[in-house]
Amino acid sequence: MRIVLMGPPGAGKGTQAARLAARAGVPHISTGDMFRQAVREGTPLGLEAKGYMDRGALVPDEVTIGIVRERLRQEDAARGFVFDGFPRTTVQAEALDRILAELERPLEAAVELVVPDAEIVRRLAGRRVCPQCGATYHVEFQPPARPGVCDRCGAELAQRPDDREETVRERLAVYRRQTAPLVDYYRAAGILVQVDGTGAVDAVTASVLEALR
Ligand code: AP5
Ligand code: MG
Ligand code: ZN
Repeated sequence: MRIVLMGPPGAGKGTQAARLAARAGVPHISTGDMFRQAVREGTPLGLEAKGYMDRGALVPDEVTIGIVRERLRQEDAARGFVFDGFPRTTVQAEALDRILAELERPLEAAVELVVPDAEIVRRLAGRRVCPQCGATYHVEFQPPARPGVCDRCGAELAQRPDDREETVRERLAVYRRQTAPLVDYYRAAGILVQVDGTGAVDAVTASVLEALR
């Protein structure tokens, strides 16, 4: 499986990418998760990324493409990958195509999760994440067994700093302006797959798998 998952903030990219990658036995590569880890570890990459993320802006293309290029060199990525939140600009999409062409492992599909704005606001407002292992929950739609506690590792759940209402609005605007044009990019390449991202998590996973068949 060599796919990218696209869609607005809160569309369920991370939720679906984790399931699809586990099923296919390939790595789930989330540039957002990679940046958040760098922020937690206080690396130079983290320090640079934090300023952009806190305002809902995109981290510069050359930085983002650099970490993706490195990640694709790791052995596990030879089996395939599920990208989540990358690419987000035309420059990133073109760079990914070049890197994959060099590796002779082109993309098989770009999956767009289609979710209306009202639903996105509800999803992000109720999202809780595990600061330790990265697991994602929703207070209403995907609650942990014990409120506020991670099922996987027992850590206390938190809200993502960029899930504040104002930042969400900016992230949505950035998505429309900079990332939505990639839908046409992948349609023109003949690999766009559009999937209804509303409905239960399991049902969305099934729709994606069906659409990829
Ligand atoms: P990133 O981490 O990629 O955030 P995002 O695109 O805004 O997307 P989210 O992670 O918020 O949403 P998601 O689609 O993964 O949804 P989730 O599965 O969590 O990026 C963060 C920042 O990093 C960017 O703003 C930027 O600064 C930087 N960055 C990252 N990549 C970059 C790049 N390539 N270039 C430049 N900068 C970059 O689901 C959301 C909630 O809904 C959860 O609570 C979940 O439990 C719930 N949910 C999921 N599915 C369902 C369902 N079917 N029904 C009900 N609830 C559901
Ligand atoms: Mg995510
Ligand atoms: Zn955890």
